[in-house]
Amino acid sequence: MTAPELAAEHLGAGYFADPYSVHARLRTRRPVSPVVLPGGDAPAWLITGYAEARAALTDPRLRKSMPGWGPEPGSVFAVLEQHMLNSDPPDHGRLRRLVNKAFTARRVEQLRPRINAITAGLRDGIPTRAEVDLLASFAFPLPITVICELLGIPAGERDDFREWSTTVVSNTAAPDVMYAHATAMVGYFRALLAAKRREPTDDLLSALIAARDSDDSLSEDELVSMAFLLLVAGHETTVNLIASGVLALLLNPRELDRLRARPSLIGSAVGELLRYVAPVSHATFRCAAEPVDLGGVHIGRGDAVFVALSGANRDPARFGDPEGLDLGRDSSGHLAFGHGIHYCVGAPLARLEAEIAFAALLSRFAGMRLAVPAESLRWRPSTLIHGLESLPVRLDPAGTAEPADGIPVRWDA
Ligand code: HEM
Repeated sequence: MTAPELAAEHLGAGYFADPYSVHARLRTRRPVSPVVLPGGDAPAWLITGYAEARAALTDPRLRKSMPGWGPEPGSVFAVLEQHMLNSDPPDHGRLRRLVNKAFTARRVEQLRPRINAITAGLRDGIPTRAEVDLLASFAFPLPITVICELLGIPAGERDDFREWSTTVVSNTAAPDVMYAHATAMVGYFRALLAAKRREPTDDLLSALIAARDSDDSLSEDELVSMAFLLLVAGHETTVNLIASGVLALLLNPRELDRLRARPSLIGSAVGELLRYVAPVSHATFRCAAEPVDLGGVHIGRGDAVFVALSGANRDPARFGDPEGLDLGRDSSGHLAFGHGIHYCVGAPLARLEAEIAFAALLSRFAGMRLAVPAESLRWRPSTLIHGLESLPVRLDPAGTAEPADGIPVRWDA
């Protein structure tokens, strides 16, 4: 079936809070469905089946860029969009190779003591015996501090980044706000890169500037775009894994107790939380450069395609009892970090940050609980990320639980 034969379903704002029930309904009818996303006006294909999602993410006909498509050349959007996640081979490989090494599991492991120290500092600063927004006080500052240090970005501006980046991932931001915030980001990075070029420091951005200046492997706009991608991807995602992960544990107290009793489950728990909370709900935009038959439908040339990673991760054909949180399950093969050539560069860093964050919270706050009814929590208006606006909790520092399996939480700080 082709798009004209199928009526596109208009997804409403409720989709931001609960994409899962929509995916389950669409998937039973067909794993690839025509929809109009909230805030959008054009139909796109939404993939909610696991097998179809994996196939789409490795299909070279579903491309990130097409001649004549994309923002106006010379605009701020054209500058920001020249990064690896928007590129196809061979540019994609060239851009990715420039940063790959900085994010290998071995290099990231060397950051453990520093991430421990940042986490401990944040955790110790959270007021107890009062209602606190765990997202603002912990889940956001942890990844933004880590990625800013890694890139060499002064942390002072992080509230500005938060505002700009919130706009960039939103489905509903007004065009003038989008333009203003994209312009602010480009201006900020151009000034920062100029300052670093004058006085190089020991960080990833200085290394990228050196790479740019020593050969032709990177244009100046690609450098700005790379900085933008790493900053946004480095925190918009992990913040949601930590905040939505804590929420999932609070709403599943048996699983929370299970993890408290057995801290050695943390690796598998983070894998399952990634599957279950899907911090990146949809993979980024793809466009059919050629017609593609997938999941019983015919995707025409030029059609827009979104892979619902959060849908694929709850496909009953791939994961038993997919709506249940089971920290002991084998969640390998989940698509929370994507699949194929754009598989997340930062996956080892995100896992490490999340392991340290959950261990730090659970070992200190035995009585952590939600401060408001779960139904009143508000979700951000984005289909790219699935994230809370805030996470009001109450923390009880008393009664630190002793792990039943006797394996201490790895906690160096
Ligand atoms: C829980 C945390 C994270 C999740 C769930 C996540 C998820 C993803 C996903 C799904 C993609 C592929 C998107 C697509 O194919 O359209 C991706 C790509 C990417 N992520 Fe992450 N990410 C996380 C953390 C990070 C961190 C900490 C960084 C650090 C810089 C990072 C950097 C990137 C980059 C650079 C890409 C583009 C890779 C490419 O195009 O080859 N991510 N991420």
